[in-house]
Amino acid sequence: MCGIIGFTGVADAAPILLDGLRRLEYRGYDSAGIATVSDGAVQVRKRSGRVAELARAVHDDPPPGSCGISHTRWATHGPATERNAHPHLDAAGDFAVVHNGVIENHFQLRQQLEAEGVEFASDTDTEVLAHLIARCWHGDLMEAVAQATSVVKGTYGLAVVSRHAPGVIVGARLGSPLIIGIGPEGHFLASDSSAIAGRAEKVVYLDDRQVCQIAPDRWTVRDQDFLTVEAITHDLRHVVGDGDCDLGGFPHHMLKEIYEQPETLTNAMRGRLDDANATAHFGGLNLDPRQLRNVERVIMTACGTSYHAGLVGEYLFEELARIPVEVEYASEFRYRNPPVDRNTITLAITQSGETADTLAALRESKRMGHTTLAICNVVGSSIAREADGGVYLHAGTEVGVASTKAFTSQVVVLAMLALYFGRTRHLSASRGEQLMRELRGLPAAVRETLRCHDAVKHVARRYAHVRNVLYLGRQALYPVALEGALKLKEISYIHAEGYPAAEMKHGPIALVDEETPSLFLVPRGQVFDKVMSNMQEIKARRGPVIAIASPNDHDVASVADDVIPIPDVAEWLQPIVAAIPLQLLAYEMSVLRGCDVDKPRNLAKSVTVE
Ligand code: AGP
Repeated sequence: MCGIIGFTGVADAAPILLDGLRRLEYRGYDSAGIATVSDGAVQVRKRSGRVAELARAVHDDPPPGSCGISHTRWATHGPATERNAHPHLDAAGDFAVVHNGVIENHFQLRQQLEAEGVEFASDTDTEVLAHLIARCWHGDLMEAVAQATSVVKGTYGLAVVSRHAPGVIVGARLGSPLIIGIGPEGHFLASDSSAIAGRAEKVVYLDDRQVCQIAPDRWTVRDQDFLTVEAITHDLRHVVGDGDCDLGGFPHHMLKEIYEQPETLTNAMRGRLDDANATAHFGGLNLDPRQLRNVERVIMTACGTSYHAGLVGEYLFEELARIPVEVEYASEFRYRNPPVDRNTITLAITQSGETADTLAALRESKRMGHTTLAICNVVGSSIAREADGGVYLHAGTEVGVASTKAFTSQVVVLAMLALYFGRTRHLSASRGEQLMRELRGLPAAVRETLRCHDAVKHVARRYAHVRNVLYLGRQALYPVALEGALKLKEISYIHAEGYPAAEMKHGPIALVDEETPSLFLVPRGQVFDKVMSNMQEIKARRGPVIAIASPNDHDVASVADDVIPIPDVAEWLQPIVAAIPLQLLAYEMSVLRGCDVDKPRNLAKSVTVE
C-alpha cells in the first residue's frame, strides 16, 4: 500500500526522504517519487518501479532543499507508470501533493476542472488535489488544503509542499493514517511510524478531518472547524522496536519472522497469565467483570490472514467460553447490516490496525452502539485507537507482506481471551490451570516444530512445479488449511484452495489428479480417523498426499506420499503448531519459483483502501 514521508528541518531533505521510502518498501508499491522546495521552486523526481530507481535519479540530479515530501505508490487509478507516480503538481508547478487513499468523486471534480481549462498530466485521482489546492490558495497553505479537501469524498492521507511556503509541509487525514514525527533533525509527516523510526523521538497521531502544518521549528494541528487542537505526543520508541526492520542474517524478512515465533508467542503471553486466578488477564480490554459476564455473542471481523485467525478463535471461544461467535469478512460485514443482539461485542482482528475494511466494520459496530475490541500489532494505529479496548500482539514490526508471526500471535491472544471469558462462566480453576500449562509449553513446541524445515524443503522441491494444491483440515485445523492455501497463493502464485476435509467429496475432489497434491492436516485428535478416510479417498484417485502429522505416525506414513511431523500439543493449540510447516512450505516454494518473497506482486502489507 502507498507510503508517505515528509521532512522539514536543517538537513538536506532528499537523503532522509529516500531512507524513509526504503523503510516503507515492505508495504508493497509500484512507483516512487520525491518533491523538494528550494530557491522558490518545487523540484520533482519520480520513477516507476523500485525505490532504487528513484535513488539513482536523485543521485544523478539531486533535488536541493531541506523541506520535501515523498511517496511510494500502489496503483489504484491509472497504471504504474512514471507519469502516474506521486508527487503530482498543479498546472503552474507551484504545489506538489502526495496522497494515500481514494478520491471517490475525482471524476466529477476532474470534469469541473477540465471545463475551466485545467489540463491534467496524469490518469490519477490524486492530481485533482493539486489543482484544487492551487485554486484555494490565498496566502495560507493550511487553509488552502482545508478548503480543497472539504469538497473531496473518499479517503486521504496527504502531504503538500509549495514554493509559496518554503520550509512548510501541510498534511491532512481522512480514513488513511498520517502522523507527525518530532526529532532532533526537524519535523516529519509519515503514513507509518516505521518510516521515521530512529529519526523521530515522539509522534502525534492525526485523527480524521484534522489538518496539520509542520515547519523546522514548530508544528500545529487543526480540527475540521480549523480550530487548533492540543494534540498528544507519544514516545516513538514504544511503537517501533529497534532492529525490527533489518534481516538479522536471514535471506528474507518472512523467514526471519517465521523463526521469531517462539519469541513472539512468548511476548504475546508475557504478563497475561494470572496464576492466582487460573485465568488470563489483559490491561486494555476496558471491560469490567459485569460487562464481561453480560456478553452473549461475539462478532469477529477481519480480512485475509486475520480472518483465518478469527475462524480459529470461533472454535476456541465456543469450546472454552461457550459463547456463540460469528466471524465476518470485514468488507462484507460493513455493508450487510445484519440483525445484531444487544449484548454483542465486535472484535476486530488486524495486524496493521489500518485495513480500511476492518476499520469501517469497527466504526459500523460503534455506530450501532456495540462495544468494540481490537486485537492489533501496531501501537497507536487507527483501529487500536478507535476501539473501546483491545489487546496488542507485541510481535514487533511484521515486514513480510505475507503474515506469519502476527497470525500465530493473534491465535494465541484469542486462546487467552477464550480462557478469560470461559473462567467468568463455567471453566473450573483446575481446568484453567491445565490450559495455562499448555499455553506456557507452546513456545517450546513451536521451536521444536521449526525443526521440520528440512522435511519441508524436500516437499517443496518435489512440488514446486505444480499449478494447484488442495489444503484440507477439520475442526480448528480447517481455518489453518485456508491460511496455508493463502500463504502459498500470495507468495508463490500457485493456485491453492483450503477446504474442510470432508467437504472435498462435494466437488473439489474432481480436481484431483497426479499433478494436484492434497495437503492434509492430520495430527492425532478427535477426528483423526475421519481425516485418514479422506486421505484414502484421494489416494484412490491417484492424487499425491502430503500429511502434516504427529511424530512417527505409521498409519499416516502408510498412506501419505510425504509426511511433515509436528510435535504433539493439546488439540486446542494444534492450529498454531500446524501453521508453521505451512508457512515454511509457502516460503520454500516461493524461493524455488524465484518469486519476490517479501514483496509479492500486486500485494500490499496494509490495504488502506476499499
Ligand atoms: C496476509 O498474509 C495478507 N498479507 C493479508 O491477507 C492480510 O492478512 C490482510 O490484508 C489483513 O491485514 P491486517 O491484518 O493488517 O488487517
